[in-house]
Amino acid sequence: MSEQTSTEEFVRVCTLDELPQVGAACAEINGKRVCIARDSAGDVHAIDDTCSHANVSLSEGDIDGHTIECWLHGSRFDLRSGEPTGLPATEPVAVYPVKIDGDDVYVAVPN
Ligand code: FES
Repeated sequence: MSEQTSTEEFVRVCTLDELPQVGAACAEINGKRVCIARDSAGDVHAIDDTCSHANVSLSEGDIDGHTIECWLHGSRFDLRSGEPTGLPATEPVAVYPVKIDGDDVYVAVPN
């Protein structure tokens, strides 16, 4: 039961095996599209899937280190902070807490 308490706001999204070795996938959590990305160091991040520049799925972009690059106009976002690190985007995207429990990936997205 203590496990449930510690994960109560986290939703199980996928297993680590279901993620690309370095890359991203999209999941819908609490009605929001979330980009689940594994960076070059093997760390898993969860950010809002919609690019802050236009309505484009970031999970279809490329990972470079701990950065994801939007495929449409090349904006780059730091997966750890959601901050834009390359134009044309100037607004950050939301970042959500990730928890790994064994092989399972949990993400907490506010309702
Ligand atoms: S839509 Fe992502 S950079 Fe333009």
